[in-house]
Amino acid sequence: MKKYLVIGNPIDHSLSPKLHNFWIKQNNINAIYDKKKLNDDEIKNLIFEIRENKISGINVTVPFKNKVIPFLDELSLGAKKTQSVNTIFMKDNKVIGDNTDIGGFESAIKKLDFDLSNKTAFVLGAGGVVPSIIYALVKMGASKILISNRTESKAENIKKLFNNLQIVSWGEIPEFDIIINGTSVGLDDNEQIDLDFSNVGKNKLFYDVIYNPNQTNFLKTAKKLGNKFENGKLMFIFQALLSFKIWHNLEPTVNEETIKLLDI
Ligand code: ATR
Repeated sequence: MKKYLVIGNPIDHSLSPKLHNFWIKQNNINAIYDKKKLNDDEIKNLIFEIRENKISGINVTVPFKNKVIPFLDELSLGAKKTQSVNTIFMKDNKVIGDNTDIGGFESAIKKLDFDLSNKTAFVLGAGGVVPSIIYALVKMGASKILISNRTESKAENIKKLFNNLQIVSWGEIPEFDIIINGTSVGLDDNEQIDLDFSNVGKNKLFYDVIYNPNQTNFLKTAKKLGNKFENGKLMFIFQALLSFKIWHNLEPTVNEETIKLLDI
């Protein structure tokens, strides 16, 4: 039986095992997908298990997306550009790091029929998933990408990866067509981002990477102000789908049942 894992710290909340095991069963694959809470000093040995074929694939989440890189043989273009890896596998005797968060975000935005060309995107946060979102925005042709983070130095670190990124001071709200919450504010129902969106106007797209809770205060504000809004559920599903495709070489189904799996 093949073994797959998602690693992170914390990891309890991860819904990846639920989704992957559902697809594994649906496709009659002889495999199991587990989760493992990891410490920094355990990364090396775990990657070695991939090399030895004891583990067939690993998903990586916060805070290891960048930390796994020194232990890998090769990176996909997206993983290289973002310095983030969320999917690991063996190919031709090499341990490869890929990044399916990029494609996950792209697919989720395209599903909304939102055309990014000549649009301004405003990204909040500078954590694990933000470089992937920015790279996806670049790929989709956004003409201007702005980033703001409470701790500005972290936004500056991301700017080192992307030439044309512009930093906005935390608290300022520039003109934008799409705003993405890439912070962790909202994971707790009562949390609210301390930014004032009351003057942003209408018909913007508010996108929250968070999908649990279903509607964060960020999205509730968007709704109240007459804007479009979407949570990160489909991004999560599509990144999982792309990892599944890499590992099992087949495309799993995404339908109402899959989406419902993530309602907790
Ligand atoms: P990590 O930083 O370990 O990668 P993450 O969950 O991916 O973790 O990122 C957390 C993000 O949410 C960061 O951008 C963080 O901002 P700081 O860099 O200033 O810490 C942001 N964040 C968390 N709590 C916040 C708050 N109360 N207000 C604004 N931003 C917050």
